[in-house]
This record gives sequence, C-alpha cells and structure tokens, in this order.
Amino acid sequence: NPITIAIDGPSGSGKSSVSKAVARQLGLAYLDTGAMYRALTWWCLERGLDTTDVEAVAAQADTFPLVIGTEPDAATVHVGGTDIGAAIRQTRVSEQVSHIATNLQVRATMRDLQRQIIADARHAGAGIVVEGRDITTVIAPDAEHRFLLSASEEARLARRARELFDTDDDSALAATHDQIVRRDAADSTVSAFFEPAPGVVGIDTSDLTFDQSVAAVLDAVEA
Ligand code: ADP
Ligand code: CDP
Repeated sequence: NPITIAIDGPSGSGKSSVSKAVARQLGLAYLDTGAMYRALTWWCLERGLDTTDVEAVAAQADTFPLVIGTEPDAATVHVGGTDIGAAIRQTRVSEQVSHIATNLQVRATMRDLQRQIIADARHAGAGIVVEGRDITTVIAPDAEHRFLLSASEEARLARRARELFDTDDDSALAATHDQIVRRDAADSTVSAFFEPAPGVVGIDTSDLTFDQSVAAVLDAVEA
C-alpha cells in the first residue's frame, strides 16, 4: 500500500536534507513544498510585481507554468521551461517569500496542487515524502506518518550559515539570523511549525548528526 510521509519544521531543522534521504532509502517520491512558494516568488519578481499585492499575486498563482520534479535525486524546478532550481535559493527570493506564503489565496492554490501531486505519486508508485510548514496539519493530516523536526535556534543558524557562507563565524551567523528569524516569525503567522500537532512525532535534531536524524525518521516509519 502506498504511504505518505509528512515532515514539517522551521528553517534549518533539517526537513529538506532528511526528507530526501528518507525518500531515497524507501524508494518514495519527494516533494519540497517550500520550492513551490519560492518558485512563485521568483516568477512575481521577474514580472516586477509587488509581492504584497494580494490580488495580483493570487492571480499569478493560478496560472504560472510550474513543473516540479518529484525524484529525490532530481527535485527540479522549472517555470515555463526555465530551470530555476538555483535562482529560487537567492537572497532576494528568501527575503520576499513570506509575503507570498502568507497570501491565503495562494495557499489555497498551492494546497490543491500539492494534494494532486501526492495523489499522483500514490497512484503511480510506493508513495511520497512531502516537506514544508503545513503538511502534517493542513495538506496531509491523514498521512500514514507525520513528523515535526525541530532544532535549537543556535543549531539552525549555524547549519544555515555553513550552507550559505561555508562558515559559522560571527558575521555569517549575524547575516543568517536576519534572514531566518524574521522569515520564521512571518511564516508562523499562518502555519504552526514549532510544536507538533496531536499525533505528530516530534524529533529534536539539535544534538543529532544528520545520519541520526534520518535514522530517527526511518525507525519510526518501520516500527
Ligand atoms: P530545512 O529544509 O529544514 O531548512 P535543510 O535540510 O535544508 O533544512 O538544512 C539542514 C542542514 O543542516 C543541512 O545542510 C544538513 O546536512 C545539516 N545538518 C546538520 N546536522 C543535522 C541534523 N542532525 N539533522 C538534519 N540536518 C543536519
Ligand atoms: O529555506 P527553508 O528550507 O527554511 O525554507 P523552504 O522550505 O524552502 O520554504 C520557503 C518558504 O516557503 C518558507 O519561508 C515559507 O514562507 C513558505 N512555505 C510555506 O508557507 N508552506 C510550506 N508548506 C512550505 C514553505
């Protein structure tokens, strides 16, 4: 029987890297829902739209030509044939994405798209690992397995600083702090991803290695 594994958590908790590894090990598809919000942000910026213009952004969400890959080793993001996998990680996108993600009309459109991708993956294969901020609560509350990853703010900032700047020295930590803490605060106005909802398994990765985090999810799934 196909399964859905839903994984939520704040930035730097390990969602993307852990979800991909779990999907690879279990032969499941993989969906990065954050990449979908980032893709719409990139698209709006390309068109010179004001990302706080709720109606204009919602209209783009309904029509923008997004194609998202669901292989854990080829989680590609294309819009209208352009590969934007790298562009959506740019600071200018990270800084604006919460405006897009707090737009409730956008969330409704994304919810429908995400549920369709989940249904397709369950129909076509063994199932899917889906990661984001509202997967355990809104998108797939009836998933067979649901996890909320957490980590101390200190650990999350150090991880993101190393990813973005190859170091976790003080200036890298300060630059990361501005980006991450502000974004998590904005995002948490529409999704609860700091505490596990009832029935969701919480995993604190602060003092785990990456491999231990992956094993914690796999052990719970296989239990
Ligand atoms: P998120 O998707 O939640 O923002 P990512 O998976 O993109 O998180 O980034 C987490 C980073 O931290 C990755 O580079 C990962 O290798 C690293 N990392 C270090 N320790 C751990 C751990 N215990 N669990 C998960 N990731 C870890
Ligand atoms: O950089 P990080 O991995 O933390 O973020 P991401 O998972 O790529 O998500 C980028 C942004 O998309 C978040 O800051 C949220 O604004 C939004 N998002 C959301 O609102 N709901 C989701 N299910 C996933 C992401």
